[in-house]
Amino acid sequence: MQGIAGTTRLYGIFGYPIAHSLSPVMHTLAFQHHALDCLYVPFPVLPERLAAAVAGAVALGICGFNVTIPHKEAILSLLDEVSIEARFVGAVNTVRVEAGRTIGYNTDGAGFMQPLRALNLPLTDMPVCVLGAGGAARAITMALLQAGCPMLTVANRTHERSERLVRALLERFPRVRLQAMPWTHAAQIAQQSVLIVNATSVGLHQGEGTLLPERCFRGDHVVYDIVYRPLYTPLLRAAQRCGATVIPGLDMLIGQGAEAFRLWTGLPFPVAMVQHELHTLLQAEVLT
Ligand code: ATR
Repeated sequence: MQGIAGTTRLYGIFGYPIAHSLSPVMHTLAFQHHALDCLYVPFPVLPERLAAAVAGAVALGICGFNVTIPHKEAILSLLDEVSIEARFVGAVNTVRVEAGRTIGYNTDGAGFMQPLRALNLPLTDMPVCVLGAGGAARAITMALLQAGCPMLTVANRTHERSERLVRALLERFPRVRLQAMPWTHAAQIAQQSVLIVNATSVGLHQGEGTLLPERCFRGDHVVYDIVYRPLYTPLLRAAQRCGATVIPGLDMLIGQGAEAFRLWTGLPFPVAMVQHELHTLLQAEVLT
């Protein structure tokens, strides 16, 4: 690793707790790959110190930082500018500091799209269902519609939340076939779709079971889970057994990191190398 010098540019992540974040690993690998004189540091920021941390980052000349739980929503009102996507989602995960001004972005949507684009899927021709209506689902559905997805169904455990999301999306994309369906119809909706997205946190905790019964899945399905711990969730394993194409949440995590890196440096992210390293790291987590 390069040494720290007077010229070293500083980046980091604000969260609490922050010890398990994979972002320092990802961005350090990318900085090294491009031989950039940059450093990425995890900052444990208490909720009541967020405003001080943002002001401190600007004062210290920090060039950019990621934002994670519990600060993603609270930081909106502390920034000079917020992107359209971040405003729609109601959460910021990346900040760029430019001439003392802070600009907030949400890179989840763009990050979600990266693995889909890599698979060259005919997105303008695919019925899609998204399970969940939280922050991640808001970012994902907006990105899918921006990419030209013509038919989208949202189902969420709390139905009013999916109705609210669909109403907000319809304001921006009035011509798309969009609907909110009750949670009890999730299996039926999945069967009628080609791309199935789990944008809930189900799968994160052991013994939670899967969101959809195995009989839902077919060989022509693409099943995308945003949960990345474990690497292959029970949902993805069931889909895999039925011959579906699966995309693990790790790919979205890398995608959102890649987009943050592009915003900060203008450079491409070494996706394959980071994927290999994080895969190894997460597999080791399962074994320990
Ligand atoms: P994020 O920003 O990561 O999306 P969030 O806004 O808290 O987090 O949203 C979590 C999502 O997971 C929501 O869609 C939530 O459903 P509710 O709106 O009904 O709370 C969903 N979720 C969490 N636990 C769930 C469970 N056990 N079954 C079904 N959905 C669940």
